[in-house]
Amino acid sequence: MNIRYELLAPADRKKLPNCVSDMPFGALRTNHMFLVDYLDGEWRDARIVPYGPIPLMPGAVALHYGQAIFEGAKAFRHPDGEIYLWRFEKNAERINHSARNICMAEIPEDMQQEAVERLIDVEREWCPVEPESALYIRPFMFGTQDILGVRPSDSYTYCIMLSPCGPYYKGGFSKSLELLITCKYHRAVSGGTGTSKVAGNYAASLLPAEYAHSQGADQVLYLDCTNTYLEEVGTMNHYHVLKDGTFIIPEFSDSILKSITSSTVLELAAAGKVKARQEHIRLDSFIEGVKSGEIIEAGGLGTAAVVSPVGKYILEDGTVVTVGDGRVGEHTRNLYELYNGMQTGKIPAPAGWLKKVGRF
Ligand SMILES: Cc1ncc(COP(=O)(O)O)c(C=O)c1O
Repeated sequence: MNIRYELLAPADRKKLPNCVSDMPFGALRTNHMFLVDYLDGEWRDARIVPYGPIPLMPGAVALHYGQAIFEGAKAFRHPDGEIYLWRFEKNAERINHSARNICMAEIPEDMQQEAVERLIDVEREWCPVEPESALYIRPFMFGTQDILGVRPSDSYTYCIMLSPCGPYYKGGFSKSLELLITCKYHRAVSGGTGTSKVAGNYAASLLPAEYAHSQGADQVLYLDCTNTYLEEVGTMNHYHVLKDGTFIIPEFSDSILKSITSSTVLELAAAGKVKARQEHIRLDSFIEGVKSGEIIEAGGLGTAAVVSPVGKYILEDGTVVTVGDGRVGEHTRNLYELYNGMQTGKIPAPAGWLKKVGRF
């Protein structure tokens, strides 16, 4: 791919803060971004330019009808000083799944891979090294056609921006989350866009998240539309751990995002590294299991969240159910250490899961 570079002079570039506490999740930007436009059936003008506003017509389809999708991936600095992408090809595949789901153009996966490596290569000094930190990668795409009428755009822009980050949840790994279980709101429905990272799914989760906060919880654990089965959290898949140390993840459905983190944990299970499987999980048996002590730990899985422990569930009637002693359990901690250890190069990862960022 031919990429045009328009880089800031070294004197105009900002620098990475020294400390992870100055990297709240999602807040920082690096100096540059990658852009490419889709017009007349082809991808054109791939470029790395200073991070800044993107011109967009007021009638752009993305602004009115929500034709917008995104991904979240991470890169890590390893002890050898090099930067490694974690399973980025899975994100490249999934953004095209999302694109198909809302009738957008697909972007060739090799183009995405080259774009992300070249951008990170320009921004090398922005990849932090501290524990619980990473270079978060946010690829996204939106419909740019200036047309009022509910139909797919005929033009798109694909962009990659970078954000060095600390942990997703304030307090990091050591603090357990509280989740609200409610029948009042649903994230996605069968036959809808729940398996995709479509912007509208996240818009729909904002009010439920506010409601969760008003009830003293951090987030909602969504149920399926019949209010019978556990689905997922707005930003991560869910798991619980049985007494024998097995992680149980709700079976993927057409209203659950197929998390790359969950899928990776299931691959680790298939290789005998952890005990994990998927099941349809009834809400009533889940609550019963937590109360009886059959379920000893719980948490969430996701690129941003990594492995995030959950200590309490707040039910519709205000009852609070505590998992174990409510604190981070040993199985959750071990999984986090294994997962993060592989990502950061401290524990060997299976071949192909890490890709060293090239020098161009
Ligand atoms: C709704 C939802 N579920 C699950 C996840 C976790 O998916 P992944 O592990 O691919 O980041 C995310 C985050 O991407 C998400 O937004």
